[in-house]
Amino acid sequence: MTALDDYTRRAAELDASNPLASARSHFDLPEAESYFLGNSLGPLTHAARAAVVETLDEEWRNGLVRTWHDGDWLALAGSTGDLVARVIGAPAGSVVACDSTSVALFKVLSAAAAINKSASRRVLLCDSRNFPTDRYVARSVADLHGLEFVELEVTDMPRRFADDVAVMTASMIDYRSADLHDVRALTAAAHEHCILTVWDLAHAAGAVNCDVFDNDVDFAVGCGYKYLNGGPGAPAYLYAAPRIIGSVSQPIPGWFGHAEPFAFEDTFRPAAGIARFSSGTTHVLSMKAMHAALGVVTKYPVEDLRSTCIRLGDFFVEGYETFLSSSGFGLGSRRDGSQRGGHIALLHADAERMSKELIARGLVVDFRPPNVIRIAFSPLFLRFADVARLIGELTLLN
Ligand SMILES: Cc1ncc(COP(=O)(O)O)c(C=O)c1O
Repeated sequence: MTALDDYTRRAAELDASNPLASARSHFDLPEAESYFLGNSLGPLTHAARAAVVETLDEEWRNGLVRTWHDGDWLALAGSTGDLVARVIGAPAGSVVACDSTSVALFKVLSAAAAINKSASRRVLLCDSRNFPTDRYVARSVADLHGLEFVELEVTDMPRRFADDVAVMTASMIDYRSADLHDVRALTAAAHEHCILTVWDLAHAAGAVNCDVFDNDVDFAVGCGYKYLNGGPGAPAYLYAAPRIIGSVSQPIPGWFGHAEPFAFEDTFRPAAGIARFSSGTTHVLSMKAMHAALGVVTKYPVEDLRSTCIRLGDFFVEGYETFLSSSGFGLGSRRDGSQRGGHIALLHADAERMSKELIARGLVVDFRPPNVIRIAFSPLFLRFADVARLIGELTLLN
C-alpha cells in the first residue's frame, strides 16, 4: 500500500466517524463533485429549492399581493435574521437580513460614524487586507463624515487605538489567507478608547464561532451566499448590539425600516428594533431560499461546524506536508487550525493552470492571482474523501 493509498483509507475512516457526515444529504450536489468553494458560493439545498418552488407556485401565483399580509413575506427579513443570529451568536431580534454586504456595511459604518465622531474623534480605521468592497465603502463613509481614513493591518490596529478614533472595521477572517482575528481581544482593546467596532463576518459565519454578543461587538455584517448557502446574490445580514439598536439611525431610512410602514406617514419614524436598518421591499425569492438554507445550517451546533471544518483543513495540511511541500507548493495559511478560518490558500507558481485542470476533473477550487489556489472546507457537505482526492490530483498535476 502506498502512502497515498493509506491517506485515502484514513479519509474513509474519518468520513465514517464525522458527526456531520449525513448533512451532505441536505444538499443537491452531484455525487462526483468535490466542491471546495463553499466560501464563495454555497451549494443548493433541497430545502431552498422546495421553498422557492412553493413561493412561486403558491404564494406568488395564487396568493399574489395578498401574501404580503396573509403570508410571511413582511416578517421574512427579521425571521431570516433570527436564523443568522443563531449562527453568529447573537440574540434574536438583533440581526436583519437585507441588501448586499457592501450596502449593509455602508449602513452600519455610517451609523457608527454618526454616533461616535466628534471634534476630537475624527479617524476611521480600516483593515488594509480587507476585501476590496469593504475598503471602498469604508473610505466613502470616512469622506462623507469628514473623518480621516487610515488603513492598517488588523494586527497593528491596537497600537493605533486612541481617543481620536471613532470607528474601526475589519474582517474576522482574512479572505485571502484565512487568518482568524481575535475579535474579542480587538473589540475589548477598541472599547478601552470608546471606539466602535464593525466586523465583517463574510468568511466566518458557518465556519467559525463568531459569538458577536459575548465578544461585545458593536456592529457586524456578512454574506448570505457563502457558508450559509443562501444562493447566488442572497441577501446579506447586519447585526447591531442590542444596547445600541435603539439609539442609532442609518443613512437609507426607507419605508421597510419605518415603525409603521403601512401608515404611509410623511415623516420617517424608525422601527423600534433592528428592522430600522431595513430600507426597501424584501427580496422575497432570494430571502426564501436563504431562510430555507439556514434551516439546514441551524440544525447543527456551531461547535460541530467549527470542529469538522478544522479537521478537514488539518487533514489537508497533513496531505500537503506529506505529498506536496517538497515539490514547489507552499502554504499561504496558518498550519494551526485554531488560527484559521474555513479555507486554505495553497501556493504554487503554476496555480492558474492547476486550478483549471482541477475544475475540469470535478474538483472545484478557485484561483486568486498571482499564485493562490483557494480551497474551502465547508463542514456540512465536504468529505474527507474529497480532500484525499484533491491531494492525489495535485500530486499528478505538478
Ligand atoms: C469579506 C467580504 N466582504 C464582502 C463581500 C462582498 O459583499 P457583497 O457582494 O454582498 O456586497 C465579499 C465577497 O466575497 C467578501 O469576501
